Amino acid sequence: MTPAIEVEGLVKRFGAHRALDGVSFAVPAGRILGLLGPNGAGKTTAVRVLSTLLRPDAGRARIFGHDVVEEPHEVRRCIALTGQFASVDVEISGRENLYLIARLLGVPARRARAQADGMLERFRLGEVGGKLVREYSGGMRRRLDLAASLMGHPRLICLDEPTTGLDPHSRNELWAMVRARALAGSTVLLTTQYMEEAEALADSVVVVDRGRVIAAGTAAELRARVGGRTLQIRLVDPQDLAAVAGSLALEGLLGRIDQEAGVVRLPLGEPDELTRAVRAIAASAVDVLAMDTQVASLDEAFIELTRSAE
Ligand SMILES: Nc1ncnc2c1ncn2[C@@H]1O[C@H](COP(=O)(O)OP(=O)(O)OP(=O)(O)O)[C@@H](O)[C@H]1O
Ligand SMILES: [Mg+2]
Repeated sequence: MTPAIEVEGLVKRFGAHRALDGVSFAVPAGRILGLLGPNGAGKTTAVRVLSTLLRPDAGRARIFGHDVVEEPHEVRRCIALTGQFASVDVEISGRENLYLIARLLGVPARRARAQADGMLERFRLGEVGGKLVREYSGGMRRRLDLAASLMGHPRLICLDEPTTGLDPHSRNELWAMVRARALAGSTVLLTTQYMEEAEALADSVVVVDRGRVIAAGTAAELRARVGGRTLQIRLVDPQDLAAVAGSLALEGLLGRIDQEAGVVRLPLGEPDELTRAVRAIAASAVDVLAMDTQVASLDEAFIELTRSAE
């Protein structure tokens, strides 16, 4: 079966800067891909190339087999895009925005009205549906933008940081909707800065940093790759933190001092590292107040992945 998205060696330059520096990945139809990365990683650039808004400098990208440069019209017919920034018309109401989109998609007037109202309800915009979008709060605008992009039944849905600025309730609703769309057969490309979001939604995750893919796999695989456990050491006298970090370093263990929290944190990798760490701490002859191991949070795993790519 033709993959929904196929990207090979994609390069996009802005002046001397390579926003995309040889990015490759593929997404099977009906799956959700999380494109994860910090600010400036190249996520929006990738989405804009895939949705034919930007021309790549090298490499190629195909959407359901259609090349984004050679067949932009076919590509546009397949996809819906929600940008990182709202793109609805603010001088008309939310209801009118959705109605217009439905009409543009060729839906007859009555059904378009019903679809617009249905979407407003699903995004809890029913009450403000008649108001000018100009008067919406940031979160309301965001929800309307998402509703707009989910009108119709696009084969590929590109969501660029869809939950930034949403309250937890709306976020859960959006997640549920994305899952429902995927179950109904749509493919979803979702960019996010949050590992948690990628894990909640995505079948697979591609981590990008500075225009390059630095890791790919399921969220669980990525979490496993960065170890997952951290030893946290708290001392009676915080002045001793550097001494502990020093003796860990002599054992070849790289702990990080968190002055503010008053602890040294050591990511645990090899099975013998905990024993070696305890030995090193004992050798440093400082008074330990507390020591515990913690499962690394997903966001720590993400920081670890982007750090180790430096
Ligand atoms: N139109 C442009 N002109 C010049 N540089 C650009 C342009 N668009 C993006 N860039 C640069 O390309 C890099 C990648 O930007 P991009 O917007 O793709 O990042 P991002 O991963 O979406 O980040 P964020 O999480 O902040 O949205 C950045 O260094 C950015 O400054
Ligand atoms: Mg972006």
